[in-house]
Amino acid sequence: MVGGLSILGGFGCRFDKEELKYPPPPCDTVAVSYSLEVKPILEASCYGCHAADVAETAGAGIVLDSHAALTGFLSGFENLFTEAITHTGSASKMPKGGQKLEACSIQKILAWIRQGKLDN
Ligand code: HEC
Repeated sequence: MVGGLSILGGFGCRFDKEELKYPPPPCDTVAVSYSLEVKPILEASCYGCHAADVAETAGAGIVLDSHAALTGFLSGFENLFTEAITHTGSASKMPKGGQKLEACSIQKILAWIRQGKLDN
């Protein structure tokens, strides 16, 4: 174990060589903001298929591109959503056909849900 990196071990991240030299800051999941953190993550990785104007044809009718739509979906399908982004259980792995979200992005979204899905 390399020096100070041991403190980051608990976050379950894996570093490649480049990152070993410049370890990222620990994932901050305290008081996650919908507008500043959750929305940009979903915008980059999910809106392509789950925005209102494309969801019918590309995203199985699942709309995730507003706070109201996202929380509406979560109120009925929180477990399915969690499985989909963490690639666990029997849900389809999301983003479909793409790379799993970064560990910190997933942690932020799950923390935001636990913190009450605020429109903050
Ligand atoms: C390339 C298009 C595409 C992208 C990008 C995409 N999805 Fe999906 N998503 C789909 C389709 C299509 C389905 C319907 C199930 C299937 O076909 O696998 C789906 C289903 C889902 C489901 C239901 C899972 C199930 O098993 O029924 C959830 C939750 C979901 N998507 C969330 C997301 C989230 C969150 C992101 C971004 C991290 C995302 N999706 C990115 C196309 C996409």
